[in-house]
Amino acid sequence: MDPYFNPRFPDIPDLERRARRRMPRFVFDYLVGGCNRERGVVENRTALADVRLTQRQLRPAVVPSLECTILGHTYSAPFGIAPIGLQGLMWPNAPEILARAAVDHNVPFVLSTVSSSSLERIAEVSDGNAWFQLYNPTDETIRTDLFERLGAARYQVLVVTVDVPTFGFRPRDIRNGLAMPPNLTVQTVWQMAARPRWLLATAVAGKPEMKTLRPYLSKKNVSGSELAEFMNKTVMGPVDADSLKAIRDRWPGRLVIKGILHEDDAEDAARLGADAIVVSNHGARQCDVGESPLSVLKRLQGRFKDRMEIYMDSGLRSGPDVACALASGAQFTFLGRAFVYGVAALGGRGGIHVINSLKMQLTQVMGQLRCSSPEELSNCLAADS
Ligand code: FNR
Repeated sequence: MDPYFNPRFPDIPDLERRARRRMPRFVFDYLVGGCNRERGVVENRTALADVRLTQRQLRPAVVPSLECTILGHTYSAPFGIAPIGLQGLMWPNAPEILARAAVDHNVPFVLSTVSSSSLERIAEVSDGNAWFQLYNPTDETIRTDLFERLGAARYQVLVVTVDVPTFGFRPRDIRNGLAMPPNLTVQTVWQMAARPRWLLATAVAGKPEMKTLRPYLSKKNVSGSELAEFMNKTVMGPVDADSLKAIRDRWPGRLVIKGILHEDDAEDAARLGADAIVVSNHGARQCDVGESPLSVLKRLQGRFKDRMEIYMDSGLRSGPDVACALASGAQFTFLGRAFVYGVAALGGRGGIHVINSLKMQLTQVMGQLRCSSPEELSNCLAADS
């Protein structure tokens, strides 16, 4: 495992600050933004910040192991890289950089349906270890074709995202006229020119496009409104219990349902044969008036123990955040923005740096709490937390 760690950027907010200075404004806005007034973005963080863990100072000292077994595979840490669409717009080749970092460190990397790298390319660079996130296409031909391609590329884990029945209302992106590839307006050209490293790297890598979906798009360049229409009408079909059942019947591998925020839906997912759920609000990009994933997670704690695994994402930015999520009932966690900050800040080594930084932070907090394994964190939630 590559031990690369850049001491100038020990924490995720350090990387976020540098990423802001290296990415064009409209691209950074797409990454950091939430929906509507962005209340959920703040609340995801506040919910985590309110968790308190117990410290038993007289218990024997431990040497923590971060290893964590989920879906029958032992990973080197209890966190993975969440699916992020259009990553290549944020930093050229970001999906390849992150997929390589993930395979090097034996943590899961989840490729988005709307990624800027093709699913075949990522299967290749990840030695078949990447997971694939599916927006359930409404178009049956596209769905069939995607399943065939996933089978041919030997993906083993399918993550079905269920929290996008409509495209999120994101004022930043609307104001910026976000499109893929970017529209060349006075505003965007000015913002790109102000970020020469990004511009140069993008010029070398070529215009970002949605490579997995390219065969299904009628043209190469799509405006923001065309993209939203294509997503709504063709790719992001709403998912309900019936469509999930159809996917379960068709998908032979492991099935993870992402975006669950209610006990009854968790029950449905278990009944339909999901192997795991991700309690997630999509990083607060879809609904600004819902509960934070952490409060839902606490209610689910222990309820599905022998039936399916429970993971969590949204708002995590540090090793202690991962510890708090695990103490609150998650068996595994995912981080989205944190990894993209790393790549935008440090380029090709950004993914490795973020993994090592999180590992160092988590090892330290587990040692402090006298937890020798991630599972032991489930006994550490403070009574009033
Ligand atoms: C996302 N997320 C996401 N989820 C998904 O299932 N498919 C996708 O294509 C995307 N795209 C996407 C783009 C951007 C810019 C962001 C920030 C997020 C949601 C993502 O997988 C994850 O749920 C959140 O990122 C978790 O929150 P944090 O860690 O970013 O706070």
